[in-house]
Amino acid sequence: MKKNVSAGKTREFPKGFLWGSATASYQVEGGIDNTDWADAARKKKVPVTGRACDHYNSFEKDFDIAKSLLQNAHRFSIEWARIEPEEGKFNDTEIEHYRKVIRALKARGLEPFVTLWHFTLPIWFRDMGGFENKKAPEIFGKYCAYVVEKLGNEANFWMTMNEPMVWLGNGYLRGGWPPFKREVVKYWKALKILMKSHRFAYIEMKKKAPTIQIGIAKQNMDFSSGGGWWNDVRMNFCRKFWNYKFLKGIKECQDFIGVNYYRHIAFGMLENLPLTDMGWTIYPKGLTNVLLELKEYKKPLYITENGIADESDKQRGKFIKDHLMAVYEAIQKGADVRGFFYWSLLDNYEWAEGFTKRFGLVQVNYDTMERIVRPSALLYKKICETNIIE
Ligand code: BGC
Repeated sequence: MKKNVSAGKTREFPKGFLWGSATASYQVEGGIDNTDWADAARKKKVPVTGRACDHYNSFEKDFDIAKSLLQNAHRFSIEWARIEPEEGKFNDTEIEHYRKVIRALKARGLEPFVTLWHFTLPIWFRDMGGFENKKAPEIFGKYCAYVVEKLGNEANFWMTMNEPMVWLGNGYLRGGWPPFKREVVKYWKALKILMKSHRFAYIEMKKKAPTIQIGIAKQNMDFSSGGGWWNDVRMNFCRKFWNYKFLKGIKECQDFIGVNYYRHIAFGMLENLPLTDMGWTIYPKGLTNVLLELKEYKKPLYITENGIADESDKQRGKFIKDHLMAVYEAIQKGADVRGFFYWSLLDNYEWAEGFTKRFGLVQVNYDTMERIVRPSALLYKKICETNIIE
């Protein structure tokens, strides 16, 4: 029988590559009631988080699992409303909590990647207009600088914010997330203020901890066109606007780029691709494209999120492997990719979808809080262990 050469090929990742998984505070911690999302849940506009995965209390056990899966990095977020429950009043007990979180990671050999704002706003900040308020950059910058002043010597990698374009789109155009608006003018205003907020925070954080690496987690999509001028226009506009507007706006203020990849959008093409439980098409090649497009920034790239909602766990293993093949290909073509974080370590609160979508390498039973490692997590473990995909 003829040997299938490509099937047997081993692909080795660069030495020191970071292999991890990611979470975000509001989605896993539980017990957060002073954010815009918690308030919206009380008004029955979005699902309730409640105890979530109780990760606030069980982070050590959860990191034991990440360690047992031979991961060497972990991305998590700090809840702004815990640290600054009232404007200018900082809660050092919560700072100490997150210090324990970071130390628990390092004690297990997991490199911490810390996000300072992952979608949820303290209620007081929301009430003053959130990122529509011209003072937002200063307020946000102070919060970021405060955390870094206290914890900057504990971790090397920091992200000021997660997916600003997704947050803006859902909150200001589609009206499905807080602040539930559909107002283009306010969208633009908040977009500009968000870019300024990052730049301001970057400068303030560097003053407190000059050696830390700072970026954002940016969700980029792969856009393609089936041909014809209108489809080409749409593809080019989306690529330019969705993928690059924000990154260009903060160009001088980023030491690395965190890339979140989930979606591929094809204009004017009928594609027969498999779907995730979110109804999103699965298109690994899009990740290669997205990474190669980012080469022009000449910054280290970390895939800070990539994952699949797949309750049955039938697609997840192949999904991970295929996306890592795509990462490997981008590296071969010169993309400086240094790490990969699967979204998510645990099943969690999927925003407007509540707990119905399951992204976890680890299944969570929300009644008992029991964790069960899914088979796909073991496949990923093997890759983390060997630094190779076969
Ligand atoms: C977000 C996560 C979210 C995931 C899956 C990203 O947009 O950063 O919070 O759970 O995608 O939708």
